[in-house]
Amino acid sequence: MQVNKVSVIGAGTMGNGIAHVFAQSGYNVTLIDVNPEQLDKATATIDKNLARMVKKEKISESDKEATMSRISTATDIGSGAKDADLVVEAVNEQFDLKKKIFQQLDEVTSDDTILASNTSSISITKIAAVTSRPEKVIGMHFFNPVPVMKLVEVVNGLDTAKEVTEQITKLSENLGKSPVPVNDYPGFVSNRVLMPMINEAIFSVYEGVAEPEHVDEVMKLGMAHPMGPLRLADFIGLDVCLDIMRVLHEGFGDPRYRPCPLLIKMVDASKLGDKTGEGFYKY
Ligand code: 3HC
Repeated sequence: MQVNKVSVIGAGTMGNGIAHVFAQSGYNVTLIDVNPEQLDKATATIDKNLARMVKKEKISESDKEATMSRISTATDIGSGAKDADLVVEAVNEQFDLKKKIFQQLDEVTSDDTILASNTSSISITKIAAVTSRPEKVIGMHFFNPVPVMKLVEVVNGLDTAKEVTEQITKLSENLGKSPVPVNDYPGFVSNRVLMPMINEAIFSVYEGVAEPEHVDEVMKLGMAHPMGPLRLADFIGLDVCLDIMRVLHEGFGDPRYRPCPLLIKMVDASKLGDKTGEGFYKY
């Protein structure tokens, strides 16, 4: 099936970035969120990020206007997703919430519609199993900031059809991204490698090996990382990092994935990083 109309569910950081890149590549996008204020915030963020691109002469003012005109918003899945050829879900990392959304999508969308999840670690196979079309359910894992980062991790669930993987791969290329195929195991590849590094950086602080800024300096100056692991953890959100560590810990049943007690304590204290104004650094 030709994909023209895309619905993105969840207007947080990832959702607004995903809507941005689809609209900029010529797709009509409906951004769906139960919270109308979140939708206003998301469209204002997309507008601001496009304005930055105009200022840097990467796109013209008319490209920006055309991109914005392709984005509409909705507060319910019934009206916002019923005509979609592809739905990309980007809500919080809670399986029960995703389950409810995928069950509803299965009912309201056409049988041909591809249902993708931007989950960072929840099993695509488990999400697919709540629908009547597991062969059309796939992971499309984008990276923050979505308009900048090239990678889309294309995650194949146990029953994802080969044609669906091929179509999502092609479509990711149309977005100017570089798709990489992976199979559905905890954390996929990205977070299976990234999160234990971040967790170990937190252990280094917890055990008094070094201060956060010194851990980050080591990784930036010695390994050429654009952000140190603790700055990156704040940027991703410490709650998200903890959720992913718990998925790895539970999924592999291996103590090497145990979340650092300091990470748990910071999440308990609502020091979640950039979004709350404080994490390993103050913003
Ligand atoms: N939206 C759009 N564009 C943005 C942006 C945003 N939110 N933030 C930065 N940019 C653009 C800037 O306009 C600039 O564009 P230019 O190169 O054309 O001038 C470019 O990105 C670089 O920005 P800056 O010069 O302002 O800042 P930096 O050079 O410090 O780069 C960064 C910022 C791109 C965020 C860089 O620090 C970086 O790559 N950090 C690592 C990010 C990363 O690892 N992300 C993955 C997180 S893991 C994840 O998302 C998966 C999940 O499952 C956990």
